[in-house]
Amino acid sequence: MSRLIVVSNRVSVTKGRGAAGAQGGLAVAMNGALRARGGIWFGWSGNEVDRFTGQLTMQRADGFTTATIDLEPHDVDEYYNGYANRTLWPLFHYRIDLAEYENEFGMGYERVNERFANSLVPLVEDDDVVWVQDYHFLPLAERLRAQGLKNRIGLFLHIPWPPARLFVSLPFHERLVAAMLHYDVIGFQSVEWLESFLHYCRKELHADVDEDAGIVRHEGRTTVARAFPIGIDHKEFMELGESDAARRAHDRLVGSARNRTVVIGVDRLDYSKGLPERIDAMERLFNQHDDMVNKLLYIQIAPPSREDVRSYQEIRATLEQKTGQFNGAHSDVDLVPIRYVNRGFGRAELFGFYRAAKIGLVTPIRDGMNLVAKEYVAAQDPDDPGVLILSRFAGAAEQLTDALLVNPLNHDEVTRAIWTAMNMPLAERKERWEALNAVVRDSDVIGWAADFIEQLSGNSTEALEPA
Ligand code: G6P
Repeated sequence: MSRLIVVSNRVSVTKGRGAAGAQGGLAVAMNGALRARGGIWFGWSGNEVDRFTGQLTMQRADGFTTATIDLEPHDVDEYYNGYANRTLWPLFHYRIDLAEYENEFGMGYERVNERFANSLVPLVEDDDVVWVQDYHFLPLAERLRAQGLKNRIGLFLHIPWPPARLFVSLPFHERLVAAMLHYDVIGFQSVEWLESFLHYCRKELHADVDEDAGIVRHEGRTTVARAFPIGIDHKEFMELGESDAARRAHDRLVGSARNRTVVIGVDRLDYSKGLPERIDAMERLFNQHDDMVNKLLYIQIAPPSREDVRSYQEIRATLEQKTGQFNGAHSDVDLVPIRYVNRGFGRAELFGFYRAAKIGLVTPIRDGMNLVAKEYVAAQDPDDPGVLILSRFAGAAEQLTDALLVNPLNHDEVTRAIWTAMNMPLAERKERWEALNAVVRDSDVIGWAADFIEQLSGNSTEALEPA
């Protein structure tokens, strides 16, 4: 079996901590995939140094090796806080109003991609398969090819791909996508994002696109583009659910809820997650029905994220204001309806919280997949399962069709879904949960990685011949 080399911006070995809502789905998924297969995980150390050296720090982790490099402060500003998180992230989540197009960001992004390529090439042996993750490295394959790397190189994009009409607002968009087409395989979370990408390639790049087969031919190269919906490490998560930590967390939440229905949200504090809109929906619910403070408790776990970026500081301020206002208006002397918690929890504890909550509220405005939705389903008690309320605009909605699917911008619809979930009979809850759980259990992260690697290794397609 050829060695696997994974490249991502963040290398975070979870060691039982960190669920999707705390760290983002990528870290959770890569831990699962690498533990199952072994290999090298290469990325940024998270540290800054005055002068870039490209020197690798190698460490043995849980069944695989990590290799990291340090970056300079201006790299972090321009590449990570800049192009990745002030340009691409908002644009790819349909927020062109928040996207900033600064020359230095683009230059920093290209420089860091070059630096990654330089440090990576000496690590790669002839038969290795190189699997690059996410929007931080869209042009990396081109840089690796320029250094003569002939290995199979794939990219998986964990976030949405925007419609062509939005994407063309990005300066030099053609150059960016032409660079992406140096990958042999590009994977997306859902068919919707895949279709937007193929449409762009045909319409704007005038590439030769076979939409049914997912093949893009451009400038003499062939790229396979496919949807590979990511999953959770179901087996490992269920084992965590058996732990004392999970049980304690469950009992603690049930005890403190004092017979109210618990609604849970777990999200990185990000404007794409639809958090203010959830409070608006709660506001309607509390205004429409009597005595809600005795009936419902909403726990929102929201660890802060990308705190150097202004739009993240703003969403945090907005939420502080809205939760404060809501609780001021709706609390009683001994009951507070929203518990808003700005920190992450271990995966076992989250399992316990999910199980204690009779409603999982996952209502992003846009989301590549959303693994919290899958974790919530996995953690339910089969004899008395809770109800998942899921945004139609999350990639997960393509698979989790038995959830209560909502448009998160339509407060009335979300309000009604919460009420429906609170009153749903056991038989319907069970029926929905069984269908959802079958999807979550049967399409896990191990299968996801195997599927992508098989495609990348050229084992599963006739489509890899040069054009
Ligand atoms: C999302 C992205 C990941 C990213 C994670 C956390 O899941 O797809 O690439 O690692 O968010 O964000 P951060 O900026 O803290 O790495």
